[in-house]
Order: sequence, then structure tokens, then C-alpha cells
Amino acid sequence: MTNSVDSNKSHQNWVARPVCAAEISAIKQMAMLSAQVEGAASLTWGVPSFKTPEIIRRGVQRLLDEDDDIGKYTLPDGLPELRDLVVETHARETGITVDAKENVLITAGNMQGLSTLFRVIINPGDEIILTDPGFASHFQQIKLCDGHSVSWALNEQQGWALDVDALPALITEKTKAIVIVSPSNPTGKIFDEAQLIRVGEIARQHNILILLDDPYSNFTYENRSRHFNLASVKSLQDNLVYLFTFSKAYAMSGWRLGYMIMPAALKKQALKVHDANLICTPHISQSAGIVALSHPPNHMAEFEKILNQRRTLICQRLDRLPHIFEYVKPEGAYYVFPRIVAEHSNAWGFSIDLLHEAKVAVTPGSAFGSLGESHVRMAYCVPDETINLAFDRMEDYFWHG
Ligand SMILES: Cc1ncc(COP(=O)(O)O)c(C=O)c1O
Repeated sequence: MTNSVDSNKSHQNWVARPVCAAEISAIKQMAMLSAQVEGAASLTWGVPSFKTPEIIRRGVQRLLDEDDDIGKYTLPDGLPELRDLVVETHARETGITVDAKENVLITAGNMQGLSTLFRVIINPGDEIILTDPGFASHFQQIKLCDGHSVSWALNEQQGWALDVDALPALITEKTKAIVIVSPSNPTGKIFDEAQLIRVGEIARQHNILILLDDPYSNFTYENRSRHFNLASVKSLQDNLVYLFTFSKAYAMSGWRLGYMIMPAALKKQALKVHDANLICTPHISQSAGIVALSHPPNHMAEFEKILNQRRTLICQRLDRLPHIFEYVKPEGAYYVFPRIVAEHSNAWGFSIDLLHEAKVAVTPGSAFGSLGESHVRMAYCVPDETINLAFDRMEDYFWHG
């Protein structure tokens, strides 16, 4: 890619090799570039437009008044009350009972949880299998640990389904883990239950970890019954880490809060990294998590209803540009990953032109792996007006530009 932010050669003398090799994710690069284009309509960043639910905001306001310790560190693995609530929530969601002390670690979001895990498991040159396309930041996190991401191609013809038959051949003696995100970012695909179970079996046979990064399982629309949480498989408990984030389902992306459910032996190792890097997740955010998990998540139906309407809208708008984009209707999450069928050099160039010529920001698909080279990702977690403005401008640009 030609989009490196820091290519200053003199810096490379003192910047470590893995950091030189990494890049800021193209999602954030596009967000920063679009912030410089006045009035740009941005479909780049998956930040939900919703406010953190009132009940959580009010609860934290009360705790700020009443809890004398809210400004202090917590135990490295998090407040015991929050870990207990996580155990209850996890049992409700998956049917699996875990131990709050042994298995639960409160994180500052799934990015921090995953970077902790990669730090724990990767020796230089070790391999992590990522779906391609897959989440942009996973690639960078692995690079920063001097590991290699191994691309596991999804099948676009089958609506971006997993190709489980291709998985065993990707596993070597250096493979440490497979990362799964379902519904997927960037494709919106909900992976099939039987296929996920096969992935779990393959991981167990080869004694590798499954890292289940879960920001989006609350957004599955009419496909709820088809969503399967691999963390609910009892026989996988020794080989699986489940990561949940409050960022999307609770509109708490700025609070930086998540949790990991993990084998006890791995938690012991992860705590070393977590403590050395962070000490603990911010106390105030953990308090917000306690409020969130102490109440039924009544806001979620409304979030999902609105996102579903936005999904319909963005698909209708894409349907009016068939000579520019072909797409698979997303089943969950809030992204669509259209293929660019119009003539273009590459996804990055297409996205930059679109930003400067039409004032529309999308994320180049190449950020999500080599299979995204002719795609862009559009996030429809933004208000209808932004989606409509972006598509009015694209229609104008592609029809008349
Ligand atoms: C797959 C995936 N993992 C992790 C994250 C980031 O989560 P958090 O805000 O909890 O760090 C995102 C955000 O877009 C994501 O899509």
C-alpha cells in the first residue's frame, strides 16, 4: 500500500522494526482524512451514532457522587462485582458457567483485550489465522507483536461464507490461534453453526486457540436464530477466549470497556501484560459496566430496529448504483462490503478520489485483507441523513461527474 502515514526514513533508525512495518488502520486514516474535508459525508468508522443509554449515564452520575473509590485503581482483573455480573451474563448468553476469579478479565475494550492476548501468545514469526476479509486492526496488532497473519479466504460467491475445507492446510507448527468475528466486520456475514463447530474441532485437534472477538452479536436482525456463539461449546473451553465489548451493543465506544472469558492458565499470563500496560481498566468505565449489566438491556431492541432501517436504506441506495457497486446483503453487524465494478486502479485510489471529488468517505477494502482490493467498506451506523447525503453525492459524481 502507498498509504503509510510515517515513512520518514531517519525515524526508522530508532523505531523498532515491527512498528515500522505496521500502519494506522485505514479506517482511522480515512476518518482523519475526511475530517480535513469540510462537510464530508463519512461512512468510514463503525462508531454507532447512539448515545450511551440514559440508565447508564444516570447510574454513573450517581456513583460519582456516592462511591468514594471511583477515582482509584481497581484490582488488575477488574471489580469483583463486575466480574460476577459478567459470569451471570455469560451463563445466560451461552449456558456456560465460568469462575469470576479464574476466568474473567475486564478489559479496556476488545482491541486492548486482543492486543494483550497477541502479546501473550506470539513469539516472533508465529502465525495467527485471520479471515480475509477480516478486521483491519487485527492485522496491525499481529504485526506489532512481530507475528504473521495468515489469510483465510472467505467465499464471496457464497456470501462471504467460511471455507472450512481450506483451514487445515493453513495450520503449521507456528500457528497459535484463529480469530473469528461473527457477524463479521467488514462483510456482515453470520457464520454457519455447523461450520463454526468444525472450526472449533480443528482448533482443538491442533491445540490452537480460537479468539472469538464479539462486538456485533446483538445486531443480527431477521437472522437471530442463525447466529451461533461458539463460546457455548463446552468441549472448547480450554481452547477458546471469548471477548465481548460494550462499545457497540451499549453505545459505549468512548468508555473503553469489554471483558474476556478465558482458560485460567491463560488469564494468569494475560494479567502480566494487562498489569504492565494498563494496571486496570478505568474504574469509572467499570462502574458504567456494573450499571449496564445490572439492568435488562432494553435499549437494544431500539438500536437494532434503527440499524435494520439503515441497512434497508443503504441497500436501496446501493441498488441504484449497480454499474458502480455489487454487494452481498449484510446479515448482521452494520457494515456492507461492496465490490467496485466501475473501472478503478485500486480500492485506496478509488476511496481517495471519492473523498476529494465527491466528499464521501468510505474505507478501502484492502485494509481488511488482500481479498478487499476491489471493495470498499461502508458503515451504516450513521444517521439516515448521512447515508442519503453520501449516496446523493455518489449518484451525482458517478452519473454526471
Ligand atoms: C471486529 C472488531 N473488533 C474490535 C473492535 C473494537 O472494539 P473495542 O471498541 O472494544 O476496542 C471493533 C470495532 O470496530 C471490531 O469491529
